[in-house]
Amino acid sequence: MRQNPYPIVFIVSLFFLGSCSSAKKPWFQNAVNTASSQLTMQIEEMGDKIGFPRSIKADTLRLDNIYDWTSGFFPGSLWYIYELTGNDFFKNEASKFTGYLHDLRYYTGTHDLGFMVYCSYGNELRLTGGDKTIIPVMVQTADNLISRFNDATQTIRSWDFGEWQYPVIIDNMMNLELLFWASEYTNDPKYKDVAIRHANTTLEHHFRDDMSSYHVIDYDTITGNAISKGTFQGYSHESHWARGQAWGLYGYTVCYRHTKDEKYLKAAEDIARFIMDNVKTDDLIPYWDYVAPDIPDAPRDASAAAITCSALFELSKYSTQHATAYYNYAETILKNLSSEKYLSKVGDNFGFILMHSTGHLPANSEIDTPINYADYYYLESLKRYKTYHSN
Ligand code: GLY
Repeated sequence: MRQNPYPIVFIVSLFFLGSCSSAKKPWFQNAVNTASSQLTMQIEEMGDKIGFPRSIKADTLRLDNIYDWTSGFFPGSLWYIYELTGNDFFKNEASKFTGYLHDLRYYTGTHDLGFMVYCSYGNELRLTGGDKTIIPVMVQTADNLISRFNDATQTIRSWDFGEWQYPVIIDNMMNLELLFWASEYTNDPKYKDVAIRHANTTLEHHFRDDMSSYHVIDYDTITGNAISKGTFQGYSHESHWARGQAWGLYGYTVCYRHTKDEKYLKAAEDIARFIMDNVKTDDLIPYWDYVAPDIPDAPRDASAAAITCSALFELSKYSTQHATAYYNYAETILKNLSSEKYLSKVGDNFGFILMHSTGHLPANSEIDTPINYADYYYLESLKRYKTYHSN
């Protein structure tokens, strides 16, 4: 009999190296296991309650109702953990919590409909192929979102509260993904057309020369001019609110995905450069505002890091010059978020996965705390990392 020329140790080593180069690294596996345990804990805590874990308030779990802008993130996290683990328990729970959002299809009171419906129903559709109840909710929501578009301003209105005449915030770039999907699904270009107009207007008014972004632009609904540029959640009108920079990066990356228009790729790459040049922390998890006055004691925002991480994994696929730099930066964020400095201990943190996000510091709200959207974009990053390594 011919002898095997390769000793068993060599074959085992090859196998081991192969799995090391995939996402089966100990830190990655620990992150998925921790996320799985934490979300199981939140599901048990929820029982039959209809609500959505958002953050921690006064040492209790803060739940919100379906009309809160973050309502899609908990169901969305359950879809991602189902995808990462293959565990049907999560699939059933994800479907249950997504179903609770059904009446959002009749809601027109915010631009955040994209977050609320695409992160929940959008993931359900992607992972299950959908049933007859899902698509009508998503299409009707897209119709409601474009009903907030104004021809004079060429933007979708963000908020219905406050003193502004017609406020549009950089976060609104995140709601366009639903519109791109709606045009692709229905073959009706009207949704994509609104998304493109909104993205173009935002590119014109929301960014400074260095491609940092303002948070809120107020528009005149007669002339369409920008009346004021400033912030709501950042430190000052001319500062760099960390999550806003991340929303812009993610938003223009999505615009490029769906249009292949080079100006969106350039916008995303210019924003990426601004972020990478200006996040001055050793671990790349930004302070809540890049120029917060109390740096280095200022609170961090893990959510901004998670959004940036997920966006850079995608952008690394499109960039001809900086793919490796984006990938390495994103991988460093992901490893650092998965370290004990940011990743919760199992059983702690009211079932949230990450610690140290900041929601709205000027309003003294959600400072240095877990928040559901940090968990959502962290899980999305883990999923993108895993996909990257299995290709
Ligand atoms: N979209 C609101 C926020 O980022 O806090």
